[in-house]
Amino acid sequence: MQYRWTVFFVFRFMRPQEIIAKKRDHHSLSSEEIGVFIDGVTNGEWADYQITALVMAMFINGLDQAEQDELTRAMIYSGKTLDLSDVGRPVVDKHSTGGVGDKTSLIIAPAAAACGLAVPMISGRGLGHTGGTLDKLESIPGFSVGLSTARFKELLIKNGYAMAGQTGEIAPADKKLYALRDATATVPYIPLIVASIMSKKLAEDLDALVLDVKTGTGAFMQKYEDSVKLAAALVRTGEAFGVKTQAVVSDMNQPLGKFVGNSLEVYECIKILRGEIEPGMEPTLELSIELIAEMLQLGGVADSADKAKVLVRQVLDSGAALAKFRENVEAQEGDPRVCDDPEMLVDRSLLRLPVKAASPGYISAVDAFALGRAICDIGGGRVKAEDNVDHAVGYASAVKIGDEVRAGEAIGVVYCRTETQFESISEKLRNAYKISEVSPETTKLIRATV
Ligand code: URA
Repeated sequence: MQYRWTVFFVFRFMRPQEIIAKKRDHHSLSSEEIGVFIDGVTNGEWADYQITALVMAMFINGLDQAEQDELTRAMIYSGKTLDLSDVGRPVVDKHSTGGVGDKTSLIIAPAAAACGLAVPMISGRGLGHTGGTLDKLESIPGFSVGLSTARFKELLIKNGYAMAGQTGEIAPADKKLYALRDATATVPYIPLIVASIMSKKLAEDLDALVLDVKTGTGAFMQKYEDSVKLAAALVRTGEAFGVKTQAVVSDMNQPLGKFVGNSLEVYECIKILRGEIEPGMEPTLELSIELIAEMLQLGGVADSADKAKVLVRQVLDSGAALAKFRENVEAQEGDPRVCDDPEMLVDRSLLRLPVKAASPGYISAVDAFALGRAICDIGGGRVKAEDNVDHAVGYASAVKIGDEVRAGEAIGVVYCRTETQFESISEKLRNAYKISEVSPETTKLIRATV
């Protein structure tokens, strides 16, 4: 807060055009200039065209390390920061850069809490081809993600985790900036991404943070080298701000696990928590275990990856993680019967129509972006932030890269409301799968740890 007031009083009258011109002319901005910019974004004094002009200048002419750190700092303090110092357990969160069928948060939060961590999950909504944890949670009847800060903390202390949406109070500058970056093609620049992601996470008063940086056709960083660079930049920033940070680069060249679509993804997570894993769900479990194990080590609950994984298996096998999940569903006003009967989440009135392989051979590549986008197009996600979501519709993958298929065999099943919906996306889905005559090399799910 003190930081903001200094910026406000000393540099209140620095004009936007002077700061924009400085970056336009390739100079580094001072911490005060960055502070004035973020203050102007937060309090509405900078017009959208001034904000986007400066962001574009940053995108084109670059930000150095000091500027990136100052931008992150200014964005953290653009709103409130949580005080979780009295939670009584190591406070460790996980953040994913987003993918298709990426549902691990619903397993990670209860399992990590059952192992002794406090997990303050502040999540987002889906946009475009990627889903969002809040939309998934809202497919549980009654579940409320709108928690006040006080209630959020109360649940964290009582249950070990809470799942909420980002209020306007945490890093409000990012909300505004991200919307403008999205509309002006300035999202894919690592320093801006780092400031955006880390400002939200560092405002949570964490002891440690594990990042799941996706790479591949369904990730917003498609090239492996770029994903590793992003992971390294995120880790460096976390550490620079005093939070133990680790990143896992995980494969997103095909949907994660079996299902894509909000209710269906919650179904998959509850089946895994119940120990009733279905074919195709294994990668969801594997990645969840890997990420929880990193969290337990950073949080000081386990001193090796092997011990951490044993602990995770114990809370999954004993039902302790499922019990935590149930506690949270009850506390956040959801219907806990979904824990006993996950079939409740699968809408029986939906049509289930198969997508058939066009030719025989091996699945050699999947355009996960196209697949996520197709499910979004039938209502499973949002094209624009204000769109409504149909929580029930979705897709079940029947094959993975490397699988052999016959012509006409089902490679996936669409859960949709009408045949017209199916027809509008079936071709796109079929084309999302590349089938080759030779068996392809497959990549590991966990590509790197940074
Ligand atoms: N996710 C974010 O929260 N911010 C970005 O800039 C990119 C992805």
